[in-house]
Amino acid sequence: MVRSNFTKFKIISLPATTSTNTYIKERIDELPENSVVIADIQTDGKGRLGNKWIADKGALSMSVLFKDISSAQNLTVISAVAVCQSLYRLYGIKAGIKWTNDIICENKKICGILCESAIKCSSDSEGHRSYVICGIGLNVNQEKEFFDKSELSDGASLNSLYSKEYDKTEIGLYILRRIAILQGMAFSEVIKMYKALCVTLGRQVKLIRNNCEITAYAKDIDENGCLICENESGEFVVNSGVVRVRGMNGEYI
Ligand code: BTN
Repeated sequence: MVRSNFTKFKIISLPATTSTNTYIKERIDELPENSVVIADIQTDGKGRLGNKWIADKGALSMSVLFKDISSAQNLTVISAVAVCQSLYRLYGIKAGIKWTNDIICENKKICGILCESAIKCSSDSEGHRSYVICGIGLNVNQEKEFFDKSELSDGASLNSLYSKEYDKTEIGLYILRRIAILQGMAFSEVIKMYKALCVTLGRQVKLIRNNCEITAYAKDIDENGCLICENESGEFVVNSGVVRVRGMNGEYI
């Protein structure tokens, strides 16, 4: 285990694993909070809604084990803002957030975030404690052919967009630093940053759940990171990650 010298995070670097989220889940009793697992390759990456996440050597695959002092939704918001801010501060790349947790560049998805809750059993006086595992998958150096071959027409990497190789370790460490800074801020301030980065807001969108689809105007983000929408039936709050959002022409917003 390598202790990072600038943050509270303890980093475990692996050449390969099935999934960095799974790696932490399987060792939840041993790993201390703020453990970070970074794998060069994932062979069975997990995406949202039970989807597969394909992550070869070109991807940054990183999971962080947080003590559940805040909810999984808060950590999703914090991580999404941290990724966008890191790309901008490191390379001037302007990325946006597609609610809830996809990072978008040039209308393509470059990063997904999967936050999962876990219970850690403990024999000491503290008993069972809950944790959140926050997995960040950022497409960094894959070539355009990778997305064609994997039939990921909405996906892209920094390299496929900007024709340049990036240092994924540098990006990963910068993201961790931003996460630590954002965790130290009032969550209402982070929500303001999230709103400023959210490309879904101010648009007419399709909300898709199972086979059901409704159209609404994406009006605002509430204090918890939920999407406030409005349509002819009135205003309503969408708080679940099981809803998929698309633009009116199916575009990825
Ligand atoms: C999504 O479906 O958009 C979320 C994708 C999350 C992928 C990351 S890669 C690191 C971590 N390990 C996983 O297996 N999944 C997450």
